[in-house]
Amino acid sequence: MIDLRQGLNEGEIIMPGPVAPRIVLAGLGPYARAFYYPLLERYHSAGRLTIDTVVELSSQRELIDRYLAGRFIQPRRVVLVEEGLHCDALTIALESDDATHSAPPWGCIVATEPRAHRTYVEWAARHGMHVLLEKPVTARDLRSGGAAEALRLVDDHRFLTDISEKYGVTVVVQTQRRAHPGYRMVKEILTDVVTSYGVPITYLDMYHSDGTWNMPWEFAAREGHPYKYGYGKLLHSGYHFLDLFCWLTEVNRDSCRPPDQLLMDVTAIDARAVDTQLTDPSYERLFGEEQWRRYDGLPRPASLPEQPWGETDVVLLARSMNGGNVVTTAVLSLLQSALSSRAWLALPEDTYKGNGRVRHERMTIQVGPLLSVQVHSYQDGRSAGRGPFDVVVYRNHRLLGGEAVSRITLRSGDGPSTAESDSLNNQAREEIFQDFLAADGRRSGLALHDNTVRVLAAAMAGVIRSSQGGSGRSAVLLDAGGGDWYRPA
Ligand SMILES: NC(=O)c1ccc[n+]([C@@H]2O[C@H](COP(=O)([O-])OP(=O)(O)OC[C@H]3O[C@@H](n4cnc5c(N)ncnc54)[C@H](O)[C@@H]3O)[C@@H](O)[C@H]2O)c1
Repeated sequence: MIDLRQGLNEGEIIMPGPVAPRIVLAGLGPYARAFYYPLLERYHSAGRLTIDTVVELSSQRELIDRYLAGRFIQPRRVVLVEEGLHCDALTIALESDDATHSAPPWGCIVATEPRAHRTYVEWAARHGMHVLLEKPVTARDLRSGGAAEALRLVDDHRFLTDISEKYGVTVVVQTQRRAHPGYRMVKEILTDVVTSYGVPITYLDMYHSDGTWNMPWEFAAREGHPYKYGYGKLLHSGYHFLDLFCWLTEVNRDSCRPPDQLLMDVTAIDARAVDTQLTDPSYERLFGEEQWRRYDGLPRPASLPEQPWGETDVVLLARSMNGGNVVTTAVLSLLQSALSSRAWLALPEDTYKGNGRVRHERMTIQVGPLLSVQVHSYQDGRSAGRGPFDVVVYRNHRLLGGEAVSRITLRSGDGPSTAESDSLNNQAREEIFQDFLAADGRRSGLALHDNTVRVLAAAMAGVIRSSQGGSGRSAVLLDAGGGDWYRPA
């Protein structure tokens, strides 16, 4: 029996065996082209799986054909579907012309635009397939329906959790920081002190900017990581950091004050605000008047005043509570309109690693007077891959013993600089992928994303309400069963 959890050695080739699990890849967008397809080829070559089916939208035919023509392993078939299919229609589209296979594939990677996630997970679960689900769990068109529609993200999570249990399949969510060696180390250090002394994490400050610089007309046009459906950063990379916040602060369950509720407030800016911050004269000075004028007249947030836009930047203030007592105070600053290395106007095909994104990520966590743990990971923008990662630990060594300060460099800024070499995140993604191949949901199974999806939905509802002149405040019950989990405040 092949151990599907084992990694592969460089150059190791094993021919596909008859039991290699057949995998469907739903969505071959910029991210899957950069990460999943090459990964699947590597595991296919080693006999660990078979690339069975790629599912994409008919509108992407030319791009998909061109991409696959350059790959050394082809999927057994490519199925092109129309947008917005529900589960039954998707089943018909995927099964109608497949005479060669009566048994469904073993598993499905769902890497489509997130509004399609719910349908693909439902389809896969009903066919007994295990699922690797890209974050966010689901998304919805939030242009109409307001805050109430955002709260339905929790219903989606519940529906998919129930259906995966009913059909006995494992759904693993790809939030790679749960497997990241740096963040695993941070959680171990925190767990050790919190459980030994009962003192909770008392403060957390998290900052992430991904340097996604969208030109004004792209807000109106983009289908990948869109803003025109009324959502943005929180359902883009923001999900990772809400999940990291929930996953790290889980250690407080073993403190003297386990939290039962999270009180939150949000402030956000959207694409329209970004379109007023940078004026045409600034763009002309940066890119040249002639270049800039070529895009004159294209629809943009400033010219579409009735359209609700997704958020680009969010600051979330939170207090986790044990009854009436504050356990943790937290600030999460999640930005997109920050430092970028983009220096061109035309949107490239590779919007994932080829559009000048610069990742800056840092964190400070205090365990009262005992411990301060800091993460520092700032890219310099010279290449998409270069990403140093340091953990610095300050201890009250007179009480706890050990070093007063220690710095652990998990990755230096002087390492290789290819796009593939953002290796800590990619290694971690591969570990989560291996969890999927082992149908092991203990690290990032769908049910473990319960609090994350609640916090996400409440934050999103707060962003929408505050954009309409209301309050961004809300209260979220943590670790509770169904029902009354949410209260606007
Ligand atoms: N884990 C990470 O660090 C990470 C990084 C980047 C992206 N992601 C996630 O991966 C997913 C894909 O990201 P992306 O940047 O490629 O997004 P994208 O939206 O640009 O591309 C997704 C692809 O899905 C296709 N698609 C849309 N609806 C479909 C449907 N109904 N059926 C089949 N295909 C459909 C689109 O044509 C597109 O090619 C998203 O969920 C995103 O949040 C995760």
